[in-house]
Amino acid sequence: MHLLLLLIIFVLAFTSNEHEATADASVDYFPPYSSIVVPVTKHTDASKPLYSVQIMTQWLSDYEQHMYTNFLIDIDAPFIWHDCIVQGNMNPGRCPANTVCTYPVSCDEDQCTNIRTTYSYEDPSCSPETNTTLPGVVCGCPVNVVNPVTGTCGQGLLSFEELYVNVSDGRNPLIGIYGFYPHGAACVPSSSLASFPANVSGVMAFSTSPYAAPSLLYQPLEKTLALCLPSNSSAQGVLFFGTGPYYLLPQTGVDLSSYLVYTPLLKHPDSFGYYIGVDSIVIKKRSIGIPANTTTKLSTTDPYTILRSDIYNSVVRRFLIVTKRIPPAKPVAPFGLCFSTKDGKKWTISTSNSIKQITKDVACLAFVDGGATSEPAVVIGTFQFEDNFLVFDLKKSTFGFSSSLLSKKTSCSNFNFTRTNTP
Ligand SMILES: *[C@@H]1O[C@H](CO)[C@@H](O)[C@H](O)[C@H]1NC(C)=O
Ligand SMILES: *[C@@H]1O[C@H](CO)[C@@H](O)[C@H](O)[C@H]1NC(C)=O
Ligand SMILES: *[C@@H]1O[C@H](CO)[C@@H](O)[C@H](O)[C@H]1NC(C)=O
Ligand SMILES: *[C@@H]1O[C@H](CO)[C@@H](O)[C@H](O)[C@H]1NC(C)=O
Ligand SMILES: *[C@@H]1O[C@H](CO)[C@@H](O)[C@H](O)[C@H]1NC(C)=O
Ligand SMILES: *[C@@H]1O[C@H](CO)[C@@H](O)[C@H](O)[C@H]1NC(C)=O
Repeated sequence: MHLLLLLIIFVLAFTSNEHEATADASVDYFPPYSSIVVPVTKHTDASKPLYSVQIMTQWLSDYEQHMYTNFLIDIDAPFIWHDCIVQGNMNPGRCPANTVCTYPVSCDEDQCTNIRTTYSYEDPSCSPETNTTLPGVVCGCPVNVVNPVTGTCGQGLLSFEELYVNVSDGRNPLIGIYGFYPHGAACVPSSSLASFPANVSGVMAFSTSPYAAPSLLYQPLEKTLALCLPSNSSAQGVLFFGTGPYYLLPQTGVDLSSYLVYTPLLKHPDSFGYYIGVDSIVIKKRSIGIPANTTTKLSTTDPYTILRSDIYNSVVRRFLIVTKRIPPAKPVAPFGLCFSTKDGKKWTISTSNSIKQITKDVACLAFVDGGATSEPAVVIGTFQFEDNFLVFDLKKSTFGFSSSLLSKKTSCSNFNFTRTNTP
């Protein structure tokens, strides 16, 4: 039996948004480049799949050395935080081996007040922030952080950081390092990283907050974040910041920008994350209407798209019609609709981002019922993003998305990470 389900396409609405922020970055040496590029790894050893970027964090010790930190990609977080130690005294030998040491932000500095009042994590479980005293610092700046895996609140100390990434022409990393210097990131104790995937020890904020990476990275780059999440934990995906072109092998002549369809990014009060308007969900040419003014959020920390029950039920009804000749299977949590794929029946499904193969014999509709009152009504999760090329253009305030790159005979794991000196 051949069955063809058309890709689920989110059809979208309007609005626009402008954002101002400060820049603080430098490039030590640069050939002509259009973006910075970092590898993205999928982690499957935590309670949900998560994705990290590897970024160089400077490490000062007896000898000045460098080390890398894997940071979770979080497009919601208000600021950057990771496992490090804040020290007032940065003299050689003061920083323990294999530890990142950073300089504290004092309680008197503007960013301390600014982050605590305007760009903080909002969580009722968080304790009030005090002004702790550190050796060599009169007054430090503790800030609350919420662990995106466990949802628990912890506290870190605000610090000045130095981070380094490769520059790129969109085809390869080039010889040339781009440095950026968050003036309000936080060092947290390792207890704040409970339940994180192995080797991941921080959170890289890619939100619209002025303390998140996009506001720190953009000069002289265009304020554009391009994200390509891998579906395979053994093959790295890619994140760019800056304008295209962007290329994946083997299509050395096709700029991925040409695959994009754009929709406006919407402003949302009380959030630094990204929202779009979704009018309908199209399944095999039939569209399922979505109630007016429905909020749709994009998430890099929710594994599957979560739909409010009324929307979820319409999607399931439509899927049941489309799949009526496929035997059902007992649902596997967190999914509500699963199919039996045994008996050698042949599926031809172009819906790599809507059906998840759970076992050899069972596949499920990769959407989760969020309950009758879930808000936002739609949260698009990472399974729906894997092997799609996503672009957040923060200057034009638009979100561009390709459909599955697999149907275009490439994938997010096909960036050529070989460094070259000739663009
Ligand atoms: C922390 O110190 C700053 C600057 O001296 C002061 O304005 C603020 O009230 C203090 N906050 C707390 C919680 O003590
Ligand atoms: C730059 O890319 C090269 C080759 O992929 C890699 O070995 C190096 O660690 C990268 N540097 C930084 C700062 O990310
Ligand atoms: C963690 O990093 C170490 C050293 O780079 C590596 O040997 C190990 O395989 C990594 N573990 C995971 C789960 O990625
Ligand atoms: C993941 O990638 C590895 C190495 O390229 C490959 O052997 C494996 O089959 C891939 N797994 C899936 C599920 O595609
Ligand atoms: C949608 O929002 C607009 C503007 O906020 C409002 O005028 C309209 O009544 C809302 N529609 C519904 C169905 O809630
Ligand atoms: C990757 O880029 C390098 C440097 O430009 C090039 O030599 C190599 O052939 C490329 N790899 C592939 C598979 O195209």
